Amino acid sequence: MADTFSPNGRPHLHGPTSKRWLPTLLAALWAICFASVFIWQSASVRSISIFRSNSRLYQSIPRLRKNVFNLTDFGAVDDGRTINTGAFERAVQAIKARGGGQLNVPSGTWLTAPFNLTSHLTLFLAEGAVILGIEDETLWPLLPALPSYGYGREEKGPRYGSLIHGQNLKDVVITGHNGTINGQGQYWWTKYKRRALNFTRPPLVHLMWSKDIIISNITLLDSPFWTFHPYDCKNITVQHVTIIAPLIGAPNTDGIDPDSCEDMLVENCYISVGDDGIAIKSGWDQYGIAYGRPSTNILIRDVTIRSMISAGISIGSEMSGGVSNITVENARIWESRRAIRIKTSPGRGAFIHNLTYRNLTFDNCRVGVIVKTDYNEHPDDDWDRKAFPVVSNISFVGVRGWGVRVPVRIHGSEHIPIRDVELKDFAVGLSYKKKHIFQCSFVEGRVIGEIFPKPCENLDMYSMDGTLIKKAATENVMVDIDYDI
Ligand SMILES: *[C@@H]1O[C@H](CO)[C@@H](O)[C@H](O)[C@H]1NC(C)=O
Ligand SMILES: *[C@@H]1O[C@H](CO)[C@@H](O)[C@H](O)[C@H]1NC(C)=O
Ligand SMILES: *[C@@H]1O[C@H](CO)[C@@H](O)[C@H](O)[C@H]1NC(C)=O
Ligand SMILES: *[C@@H]1O[C@H](CO)[C@@H](O)[C@H](O)[C@H]1NC(C)=O
Ligand SMILES: *[C@@H]1O[C@H](CO)[C@@H](O)[C@H](O)[C@H]1NC(C)=O
Ligand SMILES: *[C@@H]1O[C@H](CO)[C@@H](O)[C@H](O)[C@H]1NC(C)=O
Ligand SMILES: *[C@@H]1O[C@H](CO)[C@@H](O)[C@H](O)[C@H]1NC(C)=O
Ligand SMILES: *[C@@H]1O[C@H](CO)[C@@H](O)[C@H](O)[C@H]1NC(C)=O
Ligand SMILES: *[C@@H]1O[C@H](CO)[C@@H](O)[C@H](O)[C@H]1NC(C)=O
Ligand SMILES: *[C@@H]1O[C@H](CO)[C@@H](O)[C@H](O)[C@H]1NC(C)=O
Repeated sequence: MADTFSPNGRPHLHGPTSKRWLPTLLAALWAICFASVFIWQSASVRSISIFRSNSRLYQSIPRLRKNVFNLTDFGAVDDGRTINTGAFERAVQAIKARGGGQLNVPSGTWLTAPFNLTSHLTLFLAEGAVILGIEDETLWPLLPALPSYGYGREEKGPRYGSLIHGQNLKDVVITGHNGTINGQGQYWWTKYKRRALNFTRPPLVHLMWSKDIIISNITLLDSPFWTFHPYDCKNITVQHVTIIAPLIGAPNTDGIDPDSCEDMLVENCYISVGDDGIAIKSGWDQYGIAYGRPSTNILIRDVTIRSMISAGISIGSEMSGGVSNITVENARIWESRRAIRIKTSPGRGAFIHNLTYRNLTFDNCRVGVIVKTDYNEHPDDDWDRKAFPVVSNISFVGVRGWGVRVPVRIHGSEHIPIRDVELKDFAVGLSYKKKHIFQCSFVEGRVIGEIFPKPCENLDMYSMDGTLIKKAATENVMVDIDYDI
């Protein structure tokens, strides 16, 4: 028996005397272990906070830049009542004055109004650190409408700036040991539903005209509006981020909204929110067309998303600067209304082009893939009636699913046909009934090999080796769109 405890067959205990003591020793060890577990359990039941306030249990914070500051050095108090906006602002100023640095936010609850970041900054949220957005909109500054939207997204005129904000920056990192930025969205959602707000609600984290950004290893909780909104930014990485908002009753709490952004990677994220998990955008109708900045070169991989009201991963509906070269791979979307959505409308102009979806799992979603071209929501009445977006080159390879009502609904129109769609290795099990499960109109493209469910007649059929088996019976005819199921 002793040998099983000895690595490489070399016993630690020798001789008959030691062997006699062994059972007693083991019994004693067992008793000590049992007692510790018992004490630990009752301690954590009685008072988790006392146990956790022992700071030695927290991971020590790595030094990631030359200059390192502690938020408490600037007078911050973590009682959840003191407003720490001044402390954050002084800390950011100190870092700016030194040309960059790291700001550590220790464990604790740090109430604050919005503040701005600076370049060459690492904001580090320790384990147990919570940056808490204040529930008082008079302390949230107003910003002008985004040029590519013309208006605040839900009210005309300006909009509230985000809790954590940055403009014209480079080299910004928000990271930590899974600390939290909490927007206390409930306050805003309630006011919004009561129509008690005069301006568009604020995002939680919003960076504009910035580059070289990393958001990692943090939790973003209960945003008032879109959670992370990078606008006209370049080179952005989002990894190991958890984004949470209630699945219902939390309007417009999209997880991540890459908006006119280029070179972006989103990976290893868990998102469960009250609107789209990820929504790639690029401006709204005539304003977006004039601004003319696409969202392009975006890779989304290894994500798990739940969106009961809207969709897991969306493109649009605001896409008037264009959207191209988007890859989504290894994504699991569960208990969602829609898994993959592409939405646009007359008036948007521009293009949605070169999309690759690979290795997706749809687990209990109402609709799997949906393309909608009549999302008629416009900023004002001056949109161009002839600005039809061009939608083409979209491929789906390796899609699995179960419990899905409508695996595919591609709804092109006479003016916005969907071109060059490809499906391969696609098998999505149904939850409901056997008709209206592959809905098509004004779509053209091909299916390679067998897929399930059986595709609509609008698509050409190829064998796995690329031989044409059957030409599409019909290309541009309304076949079978049924929004009722
Ligand atoms: C920051 O300051 C607080 C209070 O002085 C202290 O408890 C904490 O250990 C400090 N953290 C770091 C990373 O210096
Ligand atoms: C952040 O910067 C923007 C742009 O300079 C400014 O309009 C806004 O008022 C600033 N926000 C805060 C909280 O200082
Ligand atoms: C980070 O915190 C969130 C919210 O508490 C939790 O759901 C998630 O599992 C944590 N992530 C890690 C890697 O510990
Ligand atoms: C909204 O505008 C109305 C009328 O101008 C004003 O009375 C009210 O205080 C404003 N509310 C907020 C939340 O700003
Ligand atoms: C992108 O940003 C990261 C993080 O700041 C940086 O290390 C990298 O060099 C940047 N890439 C390019 C091509 O500028
Ligand atoms: C970020 O989280 C991932 C996954 O939990 C972990 O492997 C990695 O070490 C973390 N990075 C830091 C800097 O803590
Ligand atoms: C498309 O985006 C990927 C990132 O997902 C990038 O590596 C690639 O260079 C881009 N392709 C083109 C043609 O720009
Ligand atoms: C497909 O994606 C799942 C996550 O949804 C992942 O576990 C699996 O390894 C991926 N398969 C391949 C071949 O990359
Ligand atoms: C789509 O990809 C092709 C091949 O890389 C490229 O020639 C074309 O410009 C891309 N379209 C857009 C809109 O980026
Ligand atoms: C379609 O998109 C893929 C992926 O971006 C690209 O490699 C391919 O060249 C595109 N095809 C055309 C015809 O643009």
